[in-house]
Amino acid sequence: MATLIDIQNLAKSYTRGKQKVEVLHHVDLTIAEGDFLALMGPSGSGKTTLLNLIGGLDAPSAGSISVGGQRIDQLGGGALAKWRASNVGFIFQFYNLMPMLSAQRNVELPLLLTKLSAAQRKKNASIALQLVGLADRASHKPSELSGGQQQRVAIARAIVSDPALLVCDEPTGDLDRQSAEDVLGLLQQLNRDHGKTIVMVTHDPKAAEYASHTLHLDKGALVEQGAFA
Ligand SMILES: Nc1ncnc2c1ncn2[C@@H]1O[C@H](COP(=O)(O)OP(=O)(O)OP(=O)(O)O)[C@@H](O)[C@H]1O
Ligand SMILES: [Mg+2]
Repeated sequence: MATLIDIQNLAKSYTRGKQKVEVLHHVDLTIAEGDFLALMGPSGSGKTTLLNLIGGLDAPSAGSISVGGQRIDQLGGGALAKWRASNVGFIFQFYNLMPMLSAQRNVELPLLLTKLSAAQRKKNASIALQLVGLADRASHKPSELSGGQQQRVAIARAIVSDPALLVCDEPTGDLDRQSAEDVLGLLQQLNRDHGKTIVMVTHDPKAAEYASHTLHLDKGALVEQGAFA
């Protein structure tokens, strides 16, 4: 399989006042096209930080990140935002839907950044909602949907621009077991049937079982799974 993501000697630190906090150090990681990777590790180990770097939400302090051959660590803010809009779908623990907008409008949102016509935006959003099994809830607002349904709307929003990569930060962290299984089954389907490459942070070993393999972070570095045995 071709490499989609190539991370070399990645480091990230934050400075607060005089204090420098090293959050990630010497991370080397390659992720193949079509992979479904679970990322686990203790709270504060740097999982969200790494995920945000992979998705181009944040810039590294050192090292390189290539996605699909593009050095995203060298892109400036505007170019990076543009790259994100067409290459990455984000799925968060708390869905991050706009409360005043219907499911349909929430899913259409990322398409406002594109040149698509209003009719085409509407059509693409409908197709995405159908794919997550919520065509019949298109006019519902988030408050009129269950947590699991809200997360499926968020997944529809993440895939509506047809990005190659989905990054998910504890996507089932706020869901009951049944809704979590629905969401994980959906992610697995997007991976297997639609070729999406998925990087998913989770604390739940049962959720990680849906991925094709699991990596562990500890104190800002990738560690061998055996280290936890
Ligand atoms: N903007 C920031 N400024 C300073 N420190 C930060 C910032 N963002 C994260 N950190 C620090 O980086 C470390 C890793 O944070 P991160 O959110 O990546 O952890 P995590 O593995 O996702 O944890 P959790 O499982 O609790 O979500 C923490 O010590 C955190 O305090
Ligand atoms: Mg986190």
